Amino acid sequence: MTAQRRPLVAANWKMNGSLASNADWTAAFVARAASLHCDVVVCAPFPYLCTLGRSVAPAELGAQDLSERTAGAFTGDVAGEMLADVGCRWVIVGHSERRQLHGETDAVVAAKAARALQAGLRPIVCVGETLAEREAGRTQEVVRTQLAAVLGAIGEAALARGALAYEPVWAIGTGRNATPRQAQEVHAALRAQVVERDRASAAALRILYGGSVKPANAAELFSQPDIDGGLIGGASLSAADFLAICMAVGT
Ligand code: PGA
Repeated sequence: MTAQRRPLVAANWKMNGSLASNADWTAAFVARAASLHCDVVVCAPFPYLCTLGRSVAPAELGAQDLSERTAGAFTGDVAGEMLADVGCRWVIVGHSERRQLHGETDAVVAAKAARALQAGLRPIVCVGETLAEREAGRTQEVVRTQLAAVLGAIGEAALARGALAYEPVWAIGTGRNATPRQAQEVHAALRAQVVERDRASAAALRILYGGSVKPANAAELFSQPDIDGGLIGGASLSAADFLAICMAVGT
C-alpha cells in the first residue's frame, strides 16, 4: 500500500444473508464506519441490493456478477444497467467461483468487464491460480493470461477506474492465506504488466488481495507495497471482523 492509492476494502458476501441479518450487519457497520481511512464496497446477493441501497453508506454498493449481455431474453441473467439502477456502483467480475462453477472463460470475464463499464459500474476483476497451477510453477503465466484478456478488452485506464483482485484459488475459503511475500510477488508482477502498457494507469490501479483475509492477518498483507486493500469473503459476514479488517489499512 502506498500513499498514492487510497486503500479499498470490499466485502463479498457470496450467497449469504437475509433481510434480518443484513439489517443487523448494516447497523453495526454504519455505527463505526465514519472512522475508516479507506474506500469500502459491500457486494451483496442480487435480491438484497435494492433494500440495502444507500443504507451501507459510507460504503458503496456492489454486485457479485452481471451478464455480459444487454437487456433481452436471457432468463435468470441480470444486466449491468439494472444493477446501476438499484444503486450499485461496483461489480465483481471473474470471481474464481464463477470461473469454476459456471465455466466463465477469460473471454467471458473480459466481456463482463466491458459491459460493467458501459453500464457505469466499476469492475473488480478477479484473477488467480489454482493449487495445481501454483505447484506446477505456472502462477505468473496464469494470472498474466487472465489479466491480458481484460486489458485487451477494456484497456488499462478503464481497469484503473475499477480494481484488480488477486485471489489465489487455493486460499479462498480455506483458512490458508497467501503469505504477504507470496501475494506481494504476484501483485508486483500484475502491476508490472500494466506498466508495460501505461505507467500512470499502473500507478493508479488498486490491486486487492483476496483469500482467507481475517483481522489477524490483514495488517501484514496490507503493509505490502503493491497490496492496496482486500476482497473479503468469509470474514466479511461479521460486521465486527470486517470493520477490523478495514481498520487494518491504517491511517
Ligand atoms: P474468503 O473469500 O475471504 O472467504 O477466502 C474471498 C473471496 O472469495 O473473495
